[in-house]
Amino acid sequence: METSASRYLGADLTWLARVDELDSQPTPFLAIDLDVMEENIARMASYFAGQRASLRPHVKHHKCSAIAKLQVAAGASGITCSTTDEVIAMIDAGVDDVLLANVVTDPNRLDALATVAGTGRVIIAVDSHAAVDGLVVALERRGTSAGAVVDIDIGMGRNGVSSVDEAAELAEYVADQAPLRFAGLMAYEGHIMDIGDSTERHREVTAAFRPVVEAIEAIEGRGLDVSLVTGGSSATYRTAASFPFMTDVQAGTYVLMDATYVELIPEFRPALVAVATVATAAEGRDVVVNVGAKRLATDWGKPALAGVSASHTETSEEHNWFHLLDGPLPEVGDRVAVVPAHTCSTMAMYRRAFGCRGGRVERTLEIDGRDPLS
Ligand SMILES: Cc1ncc(COP(=O)(O)O)c(C=O)c1O
Repeated sequence: METSASRYLGADLTWLARVDELDSQPTPFLAIDLDVMEENIARMASYFAGQRASLRPHVKHHKCSAIAKLQVAAGASGITCSTTDEVIAMIDAGVDDVLLANVVTDPNRLDALATVAGTGRVIIAVDSHAAVDGLVVALERRGTSAGAVVDIDIGMGRNGVSSVDEAAELAEYVADQAPLRFAGLMAYEGHIMDIGDSTERHREVTAAFRPVVEAIEAIEGRGLDVSLVTGGSSATYRTAASFPFMTDVQAGTYVLMDATYVELIPEFRPALVAVATVATAAEGRDVVVNVGAKRLATDWGKPALAGVSASHTETSEEHNWFHLLDGPLPEVGDRVAVVPAHTCSTMAMYRRAFGCRGGRVERTLEIDGRDPLS
């Protein structure tokens, strides 16, 4: 999806420019406008306050337990994670109702998960007998228990069983395992969540979730209770919340946002920038800044220069290029604020982000859900 540069022209960067203590911080680094982040958290919380479904935010977006706690304090029913490291960081920090919306089959990871399942309430996605068996072995070895949801593939082709019958059969298999509690179903519409037209997105996502309704009926027909049905994302939160069967919506990116997501849900504002320094700038050339693919994710979309009329042209390991469309040419050595194309992957490249308000760094947010071992 192409991102228009113009949305950032009016970006107010005074929150960042006034933070003198960051002048001595080497670039690139991450800075968060705490007012905007909290406004985004409050906006989503107030939407879900009026819904039957709950918000179970996906913390893979920020991997930061301090932010997760703000989301829970604002009313989230629990949280969603994508890695065992995130689960451990969140439970260690006291967030104890955690859905791991991912299939884990590495025995080392399963052991870590089984261990932490002794401290907090953990629900894990499964999509095969082998995945269930591995989880059961790890839980039995640690003497712990966990919930399990059957992941059903609704078109993305990543994880998930591929039919309603398989979902029902696996649900029964889970229910027969002593250390597991069958909790329900999960489905993620990752292949269609970025459809640009919101009406078409709603229509496609609604159609994609039809197998989930059939799977609920098939599983309940076998006498099992489907108490949790979870899925959805920031781009589809309204659609997901409108489904009568949905209990927990897994929106993540609404918190910090990024240059790609702002085109999909403009009611939320970008709160995170990577601060970089202009390395090369001359008339007739692109402006080149010192943050590249190793510090700014390139897996999805295009980054944007905040407050500057420019379009993104190139990325290399340590640099991004921007083509200036209008306005004065930034000077070599100037600091610029880059809105990441994909915040979730960018956060995983840093250890911390500086949370700013009122002209100072109010809090340093540790990105403690990163992999500490590799
Ligand atoms: C399983 C799952 N649920 C939900 C999401 C949605 O998160 P976001 O709101 O960041 O798009 C994702 C994104 O990758 C995901 O993998």
